[in-house]
Amino acid sequence: MQTLHTTSLQVRDNQLWILDQQALPQQKNWLDASSVEALVSHIHALRVRGAPLIGLSASLLLALLAENGLPKNQLTQALEILRAARPTAVNLMNNLDRMKQALLQENFVDALSAEALRLVEEDKALCDSIAQAGSERVAPGSRILTHCNTGGLATAGVGTAIGVIALAFQQGKVEQVWVDETRPLLQGGRLTAWELTELGIPNRLICDSMAAALIAQKQVDAIWVGADRIAANGDVANKIGTYSLAVLARYHHIPFYVAAPHTTLDPHCPNGSAIPIEQRAASEVTGVSGSFGQLQWAPENAQVWNPAFDVTPAELISGWVLDSGVVTPEEVAAGYFQPR
Ligand code: MRU
Repeated sequence: MQTLHTTSLQVRDNQLWILDQQALPQQKNWLDASSVEALVSHIHALRVRGAPLIGLSASLLLALLAENGLPKNQLTQALEILRAARPTAVNLMNNLDRMKQALLQENFVDALSAEALRLVEEDKALCDSIAQAGSERVAPGSRILTHCNTGGLATAGVGTAIGVIALAFQQGKVEQVWVDETRPLLQGGRLTAWELTELGIPNRLICDSMAAALIAQKQVDAIWVGADRIAANGDVANKIGTYSLAVLARYHHIPFYVAAPHTTLDPHCPNGSAIPIEQRAASEVTGVSGSFGQLQWAPENAQVWNPAFDVTPAELISGWVLDSGVVTPEEVAAGYFQPR
């Protein structure tokens, strides 16, 4: 396969490499992800993460395994193992459904390679379209709050919510971005704060628990987040903590936007309660780990509840900003996301 470079994925010498998102921003380590076991382990550990990026990494690996001679029956097994690597972000399943079609073709090696590269190129274009559509919704002088990480690290392109913010900033409309640190894995504090600074966008970090007080002091004009799955009724699964921001936005009368590509839509999922929510290890809540090492502050054997995502009901969302444009609450209520 041809050499490929995105912010956090590389293909070179027929091998897949990922930028370790658990070590960022202190260390920039590229890790080999050229086997199913390696990539699944990176996905479980969130060394590769973000809904679009998970799907793209799995698709690229499948294509590389085919080019490196893995027979069709083992590619089918590999596809199913990759598909189950994380349950909530539907981009993984949607991308692999397309790869499955390619695998059915007689010349499946070329077909898988072409499809994986097409998915990467499409994702870049989807990000650009989301940014265009979303930036029109950003008012001049905006102070925007965002959650988790939705930028170039999480996609092949400029990102989703961060892509919108970056374009609106270039248009002179963003005064400042408030970055929720995003406990327990700190994607905001580690990744978004770093990415925004690299992009030259003024940003200020807060702990998640500070958002309510900040919004009450009228320091936030709009909230922009990404999505891991959008159900047919418009309910959205995204990083844990998103729902509380949506409730805050409604109470304080500020807009709450969700930015995502169409690969995040799941028309066959009727509503948010049908979205599988990944439960994660207690150690993520009892302490923290990263490039700085591992710490535990909770008592030994503390009981923990650690869902990786929550569901924001459609009624709290001001607009779903897709690559095709902004979908309004009225359109969603009229069945816009229902299966066609
Ligand atoms: O657990 P993560 O870090 O993969 O969760 C990521 C998010 O929740 C993002 O908001 C979402 O995947 C969109 S990324 C463009």
